[in-house]
Amino acid sequence: MDATGTRDFVAEFLFWAVLCLTHLSKMAEDLMLYSTKQFSFISLSDAYSTGSSLMPQKKNADSLELIRSKAGCAGFMMTLKGLSSTYNKDLQEDKGAMFDCYDTVHAVLQVTTGVMSTLKINQSVMQAALSLDMSATDLAYYLVRQGVPFREAHGISGKAVFAAESKNVALNQLNS
Ligand SMILES: *[C@@H]1O[C@H](CO)[C@@H](O)[C@H](O)[C@H]1NC(C)=O
Repeated sequence: MDATGTRDFVAEFLFWAVLCLTHLSKMAEDLMLYSTKQFSFISLSDAYSTGSSLMPQKKNADSLELIRSKAGCAGFMMTLKGLSSTYNKDLQEDKGAMFDCYDTVHAVLQVTTGVMSTLKINQSVMQAALSLDMSATDLAYYLVRQGVPFREAHGISGKAVFAAESKNVALNQLNS
């Protein structure tokens, strides 16, 4: 009776599809942030952005906004929830849910591939944004590999960061 009403294969497809879309949605949000004037880490190709209808200087990341918005596809789970065993007519909703979701994932993957293969990365701006203090964790891990327990390594690395700040030098410029 349970098996007749089970649509696990549809639910599983939808789960992986939603998870994939969720990751792409988060990535789109990151890329949008990195493409703002404030970051200027990347710029989208004209094929994947549109001019603003108001501000002539502005490029809109439409493709990324569309990717970000498509993390849906979870509706069919709500249909499954609370159904009694054996076949219920509700289950016929599985086709629409699955086919729609397939089309969405297919389209989003195509747009994502286009965006990623055409965007330009500004390496110098990204490098300039790196702070050497980021290597404080690497310093702690280095000490761990030398046999220092992490709780101590964390403290030592923190002291090194403090010393560098006090001397107004970068962490890798500290000397004895
Ligand atoms: C990177 O950005 C800088 C500063 O905005 C700019 O001068 C430079 O031309 C850019 N480089 C590339 C490859 O777009």
